[in-house]
Amino acid sequence: MRTPATIREVGLRDGLQLVKQFLPTESKIAWCKEESLAGLKEIEVTSFVPPSVVPQFVDAADVVAATLSVSGLEIAALVPNFKGATRAFEAGVHKINYVLSASEMHNQANVRRSTEDSLQDFERIASERNTRKLPTKIVGGIATVFGCTIQGAVPEARVFEIAERLRNLGADELIIADTVGYANPRQVRRMLQRIVEIFAGPVYAHFHDTRGLGLANVSAAVDAGVTRFDASIGGLGGCPFAPGASGNIDTEDCAYLLESIGFDTGLDIEKLVALRNKVAHWLPNERVGGTIARAGLPKTFVPTQSKRQSAEPTVQHASVQ
Ligand code: COA
Ligand code: ZN
Repeated sequence: MRTPATIREVGLRDGLQLVKQFLPTESKIAWCKEESLAGLKEIEVTSFVPPSVVPQFVDAADVVAATLSVSGLEIAALVPNFKGATRAFEAGVHKINYVLSASEMHNQANVRRSTEDSLQDFERIASERNTRKLPTKIVGGIATVFGCTIQGAVPEARVFEIAERLRNLGADELIIADTVGYANPRQVRRMLQRIVEIFAGPVYAHFHDTRGLGLANVSAAVDAGVTRFDASIGGLGGCPFAPGASGNIDTEDCAYLLESIGFDTGLDIEKLVALRNKVAHWLPNERVGGTIARAGLPKTFVPTQSKRQSAEPTVQHASVQ
């Protein structure tokens, strides 16, 4: 019996927030449905930021309404402040991923206030949820944990302090984000071990592959006891308020890594590659990556899913694009 690992797709949020071309709402919904068919159980489908800040998410409530009807899917949305949380509660998301930054300078650039003010807003959101007895999970997402393109170094002690504060304020889960791709595997192992101890609840790791260390960092996070990861189909992504930011780790490649080292992701990599090719077609001006999409799965690879369904190993398939 393999140990389960979770991949949460964030392409519809992190992937699209830098994309200038508006992807039609129907395509976003189709993207979500296809991911569900590929085995994804949780998707961050949109972001409740003002449309004047990120026009791509003008249809946030419509995307949530449509994707809530896909059975078996946990629908999450990014939220930067109390107003965003109010909109997300109203839309009925299962999970609010609230973003704040360990880097003061990134917090100012991204959400226009201090990290302390963001923590106070988190408290207000949690208290609103509790008072209204809503079932919504509230997640503390800490950005720029491993360094910041604006501020440079981010003190580790500050990250641990924020993780502890979020736990005490009632965060159901934590997201530890390398927003700008500064993390290295040793740092990831060391810091995540400590964060997992402090938080004592579900911790997701969110890596960007900006400098090519994304999957090495996933492997280091696994060593630290983390088995939940954010990833984006075709490696799309990046924060518009972090200079030099680029794509998330790739969903298909991350699934391949985790399956290869003995985890059960429940994902069908071939279906993910097919969707990645569709997304590349929808977004012709974007760089859509993916090494498994390019090279194909090795003949020796036996994914957990097909093991369950048949004893036949998958054959290598050549990729498209
Ligand atoms: N959704 C919709 N409208 C919102 C909103 C939200 N989440 N938050 C604020 N607004 C509206 C306010 O009602 C106000 O409207 P009005 O001018 O009609 O009265 C206006 O936006 C300004 O509100 P204010 O609270 O002063 O916001 P701000 O200008 O200080 O901006 C944020 C703060 C958080 C809204 C903005 O910095 C932001 O959206 N940041 C997120 C950036 C992002 O997406 N980063 C990538 C993800 S990590
Ligand atoms: Zn990100």
